[in-house]
Order: sequence, then structure tokens, then C-alpha cells
Amino acid sequence: MQIVILDTLEQVAEYGAARFIDLLAKKPDAALGLATGSTPIQLYKTLIRHFEQGDVSFRDARTFNLDEYLGLSGDHPQSYRHFMNTQLFDHIDIDRSQTRVPDGAAEDPLAACDAYEDAIREAGGIDLQLLGIGRNGHIGFNEPSSSLASRTRVKTLTPDTVKANQRFFKPDEFQPNLAMTMGIGTIMEARQILLLATGEGKAEAVREAVEGPVAARCPASILQMHPRATLVLDREAAQGL
Ligand code: GLP
Repeated sequence: MQIVILDTLEQVAEYGAARFIDLLAKKPDAALGLATGSTPIQLYKTLIRHFEQGDVSFRDARTFNLDEYLGLSGDHPQSYRHFMNTQLFDHIDIDRSQTRVPDGAAEDPLAACDAYEDAIREAGGIDLQLLGIGRNGHIGFNEPSSSLASRTRVKTLTPDTVKANQRFFKPDEFQPNLAMTMGIGTIMEARQILLLATGEGKAEAVREAVEGPVAARCPASILQMHPRATLVLDREAAQGL
């Protein structure tokens, strides 16, 4: 597990963007694993700027997002599909049919989860998986106690995670407490993993992931076992190390 500590959020985003740009230069049709939440927003802005400057093209890339709320269709403003369209896909030259987010409105969510695994396999696996980290150490929506070998499936969100993500929903808006998420086993099969964490609110989860035991109580701790995982932190997120 490689740890990179930088001074600012902008530097974290620039470092992360450079990893995607390097990969696409070598492998234009790479399969990119993408993430939502507030942490990757700056990275997506940085990628858009580099695309506008002609430094990178996504024309042949394929993408797979980590997770989606169960019960929200892709046109719901709080869905992760909507997030990805507005934060990244609308601004780059990617072929929209090559972007995948689990279908939160699927009639048969369990079958949709299995089909998602098949699609990742058919794409030849994920080349570079981007991750954020929840305050309780979750990755994707793999909450503490998730099996370290889990595959894409439906998970119940903890009350803490629901609360942490409440800020994205309007006061009376329906907020799901179920989600479809790639499993920890799915994430660990990515050839490279890049986890970004910024701000002191993540310091405890980062400390547990890096210095704690590999344990289901902190899903991100499994990254200690990945041969090519990099954690990119700002000083606040790294303060417990
Ligand atoms: C959600 C997402 C995670 C994300 C986490 C942290 O739970 N499913 O993928 O890492 O939030 O989000 P933020 O970056 O907003 O702190």
C-alpha cells in the first residue's frame, strides 16, 4: 500500500487525475472504476480541464461506477448516475453507452448485480479503480462487517452513512437506505486502486485502514493486501498516521 501525502485538495486531485491520464495514454480503451461522493469532484474537474486542454481523451474508455442507491432511477437528481453525468460525462468525449452505473431502478436488483459482475468480467476487469472512504471506513457502499470476499450486491446502509449523505437530499425528499454496490472482492480485482481522502473527518478511518488490522470492521483495511493500491491524502486526512 503506497501512501502519498500532499498539502491541498487541489494537489490530491491533480495527482489522481495524472494517474488516469497516464493510464489512458498507454491504454485508450481502459476500463475505469469510478466513484461518487464529494471527494472525487475536484478530481473530475481536473480531468475535465485536462480534456479541454487536449491532454487526454476518453473516446475509447469504458467506465464502471462503484455503487447506486436502490430505488432511485438514473434521472433522479440524487442518483449516482445523475451525479456522474453532470460532474464528468457531460463534459468529456466519452461514449455514454460505455459508461455503467448499477441500475437502481432494476426490477430484479439481485439479477442486475450479477449482470454487473458479468459486464466487468466481459470488459476484461477494471484497470484503475477510484475510491473514496466513508467515515466508518466503508468503500463503495461496503459497510463495516461486509465480507472481504463480497461481490456486487444489495447492502443496507448504516444510520451513520445515511446521515452523512443526508446533506445531498432535500429535507422531505425520500432517501434510500439500500444500495447496490460492487463488493470488496470485486474492488480488489482491479489492477490498480487509488483511494482519495481529504479533510480531518476522514483521519480516523484512514488511520484504521492503514495502521489497523485487516478486518471487516474497516472495509478499506483490505487495501493493505492489494499489490498496487495508493492512498492519496491531504495533511488533515493523514493527521492520525
Ligand atoms: C458514499 C459513497 C462512497 C464515498 C463516501 C464518502 O457513501 N458511496 O463511495 O466514498 O460516500 O463520500 P465523501 O467523499 O462525500 O465523503
